[in-house]
Amino acid sequence: MERKKRLLTGDRPTGPLHLGHYVGSLANRVKLQYEYDSFILIADVQALTTNFDQPERLAQDVRQVASDYLAVGIDPEVATIVVQSMVPEIAELTVFYSMLVTVNTLRHNPTIKTEAAQRGYTDLTYGFLGYPVSQAADITVVKAELVPVGEDQLPHIELCRKIVRRFNELYPGPRGPVFPEPQALLGEVPVLVGIDGKHKMSKSLGNAIFLIDDPETVAQKVMKMYTDPTRIRATDPGHVEGNPVFIYHDLFNKNKDEVEELKERYRAGRVGDVEVKKRLIRALNEFLEPIRERRAYYMAKPGLIDEILMAGTRRAREIARETLAEVREAMKINYFPVPVA
Ligand code: TRP
Repeated sequence: MERKKRLLTGDRPTGPLHLGHYVGSLANRVKLQYEYDSFILIADVQALTTNFDQPERLAQDVRQVASDYLAVGIDPEVATIVVQSMVPEIAELTVFYSMLVTVNTLRHNPTIKTEAAQRGYTDLTYGFLGYPVSQAADITVVKAELVPVGEDQLPHIELCRKIVRRFNELYPGPRGPVFPEPQALLGEVPVLVGIDGKHKMSKSLGNAIFLIDDPETVAQKVMKMYTDPTRIRATDPGHVEGNPVFIYHDLFNKNKDEVEELKERYRAGRVGDVEVKKRLIRALNEFLEPIRERRAYYMAKPGLIDEILMAGTRRAREIARETLAEVREAMKINYFPVPVA
């Protein structure tokens, strides 16, 4: 039997995941998990590139992200959820890759630049500047072919492809190239606007609706949402395009007839923001309900999430060990025929 192609993607555990993560990447992962041998990485080392001063948060945040994955329908029977720091082969591979990437290339990475600017970093740590190299190790340590991500990650995938090409060319390996070139796969909505209607949904900007939000929190956030700034009274004709309330209706309201009817009335000035929002609250809570139920199921069994994480990490590690053996062989640094220690 031909082996299934592998997919790897992941998130930094820095807090709960939100609707932007869902449409940007999580939905794709759930859909593809039966088609691909899927690895979902909880990138705790990458989280340390910015949160090195509070490592004690990770124990909680790693489990938070794991519960978000399970809640949206990542099936631990088929997909492998992995804790990055517990696969030391990733760190090892990062070091080998770091010889193949120049500092200038990293400095010009647009995502690094944006992130550094947002965080007010002027002098970058080696770890932060180099995290795209470590991300290439994340992807290739299991020889992933497909990487479902949001748009901001494209420069990193491009770098990973370059590293793979360079590695395969320098170190061809006795049985052909060690690594496949991975492909990025963008989500349905690479960038989801936040409830402020201005910026990309993001925890740090305080404009996110989280998958873990309860119905009351969802209602409060939606009532605060920005809509059409040009519309002053409910009887003014409104704009639907680019209006965050309708963007969310389009994405999360299953009742398409309701959405079309609302849009028509909105354009004609025959419906107020409050009604549009009330219906959005209902639609979002309907969308979130099965997610809440699955989360409750996993949380009800003490230790279950930890067991899932340990089993997934163990499986990834076995594969990672084999990959590193091939890497050493291709690089001709496998000096001894048996493990030394
Ligand atoms: N950089 C990604 C993010 O911030 C997280 C990540 C870490 C990742 N390693 C990865 C994504 C490997 C895809 C593949 O969201």
